[in-house]
Amino acid sequence: MEDSNRSANPSIHDVSSPGRRHWLRGGAAALGALAAPGWLAGCVPLAPAGGGPGAWAAAAPGAPAFRLGFSAVAMAAVDAVVVPPGYRADVLFRWGDPVGVPGRMPAFRSDASNTAEDQALQAGMHHDGMAYFPLDGARRGLLAINHEYTDEGLLHPGGRAGWSVEKARKSMAAHGVSIIEVERAADGWRVVRPSRHARRLTATTPMRLSGPAAGHPMLRTAADSTGRRVLGTFNNCANGQTPWGTYLTCEENWAGYFEGPAEPDAHQRRWGIGAGHGSWYRWHEADERFDARLQPNEPNRFGWVVEIDPADPASTPVKRTALGRAAHEGAATALTADGRAVVYMGEDARFEYIYKFVSRQRMRPGGAAANRELLDHGTLYVARFDPDGRGQWLPLVHGQGPLTAAHGFADQGQVLIQSRQASDLLGATKMDRPEWTAVDPVTRTVYCTLTNNSARGRPGQPGPDAANPRTANTMGQIIRWREDGDLDATTFTWDHLVLAGDPQSHRPQARGNVHGDIFGSPDGLWVDPRGVLWVQTDASSSVMGQGDYARLPNNQMLAGDPATGEFRRFLVGPRGCEVTGIAMAPDLCTLFVNIQHPGESPSDESDPAQPLRHSSWPDGHGRPRSATVVITREDGGPIGS
Ligand code: FEO
Ligand code: CA
Ligand code: CA
Repeated sequence: MEDSNRSANPSIHDVSSPGRRHWLRGGAAALGALAAPGWLAGCVPLAPAGGGPGAWAAAAPGAPAFRLGFSAVAMAAVDAVVVPPGYRADVLFRWGDPVGVPGRMPAFRSDASNTAEDQALQAGMHHDGMAYFPLDGARRGLLAINHEYTDEGLLHPGGRAGWSVEKARKSMAAHGVSIIEVERAADGWRVVRPSRHARRLTATTPMRLSGPAAGHPMLRTAADSTGRRVLGTFNNCANGQTPWGTYLTCEENWAGYFEGPAEPDAHQRRWGIGAGHGSWYRWHEADERFDARLQPNEPNRFGWVVEIDPADPASTPVKRTALGRAAHEGAATALTADGRAVVYMGEDARFEYIYKFVSRQRMRPGGAAANRELLDHGTLYVARFDPDGRGQWLPLVHGQGPLTAAHGFADQGQVLIQSRQASDLLGATKMDRPEWTAVDPVTRTVYCTLTNNSARGRPGQPGPDAANPRTANTMGQIIRWREDGDLDATTFTWDHLVLAGDPQSHRPQARGNVHGDIFGSPDGLWVDPRGVLWVQTDASSSVMGQGDYARLPNNQMLAGDPATGEFRRFLVGPRGCEVTGIAMAPDLCTLFVNIQHPGESPSDESDPAQPLRHSSWPDGHGRPRSATVVITREDGGPIGS
């Protein structure tokens, strides 16, 4: 995990939970609001044909408070997807399955002998963030699915042996995003093939840079003198879904794809560019743009939130520079009361930051076409969590505070390209690896998973503070806040929903305060329309089943009830996998979940001679394959109730 924040921001040595008093004082009304809208006893009526993303189920006024209604799943070292009694989990879309481009649907070859050209028409590897866009309510829709990264040991018949331009091209083609059409047939969900919507975006798909940094000198390269055209997106981790019908895919650990100089400059150091850093993917051996020694500005063209119109397969994806540059994890999007877009974003690296963007304009009716520039104009903020349970959103605006030419910022474009350096100067709070954010649609409480930070408190590293209270934080926590007023507020009140852990851990710092089923390394996060907080975990396969994770051999998904604080285990994933990516059909009776890297080796790369050594999920032969799984109830009822 990249770790480059050496700034001298204040670190607050206060391990109490000072926010709790403020939180409880202001919290009763919010909890009451949560209980009031209630839940729906059966599947809600399907949205009318053509219903857009706005056709999500609305909680019925006056209905009883929603309570979790399933039996918890026991944690176990299984090589299967385990769901509660009365539920079923079916594999829908695996790495290598064709997306369904008409006339171009190469079948997966289980010995990994598909070409790079085949791979660019098939599901990528390592499924991650995901969203469902209704075409016909809960019967038919589009799934946009991120493919975060690759396991080169599984991707090619001989793994890395004989590394070649063709292998690098296949690796690039296995990254990016899939858009697939799915429908509920009489015997369950299936991928519609062919489909006019089917599309793959990869590390070479033409894209556009827009917003205040577009065209900036720091974004210009030999191949693109305009600084406005870029090829591809990669390391697409979590995501967002906008109320105007677009998909946001986030570029996370992009720095690891670039080979840098032996003596990086300060900007490169702050963003994790250096010698040997490209040796994992070795793309720079096939394409000069991944050699930052030769093309030093190419890395500046990554680390953005990319907006995609899934309904238009001919549309050009747009990197929205107004949202800032980061190791972007996710981009949870909501609206203010007057219709402006608010995007919450975590930057998943040790001691990095939480961001919020507020658009200048209001969303217009008319979907994606009417809102093409909504994310190009607005204000980006970074969060400071104060020890008294209050917080401030600090604006990243050129000319304000220290963000001036005197401190090296020539213009707003540079502030956005160097958002880490700008946030350092503003004194933002260094967090324990912010992963997904989520906004409760009823209470407007905002949540963020802070997955872990084993370096917290190490010599020479920041110590604990109020928001990140544990040294050697192996288990992670979920922080929450409520804005003072609407979502565009610049101040807020915060608290921890939970410190993850195992009360039986031998190490007091890893015990946490979970009420219900234990977990560690929370990552995926979503609040459904009933207020259920879904949490997915991503503990590394190098720690699972040992030490602090002795009783947690596999990753999992839990449902949290924010009213009672209970966490109940809903799903256990196969050996070595991360559970990530979550979407529901609008009737809440179908849940889509991604299983990423089943059988991941503790060394992170599989042995091509023994591809099934750690897992044979889902096929039982060939190779383990990341996949989208569809979860339904045998009686057809709503998930989780
Ligand atoms: Fe890609 Fe931060 O998980
Ligand atoms: Ca993640
Ligand atoms: Ca993670």
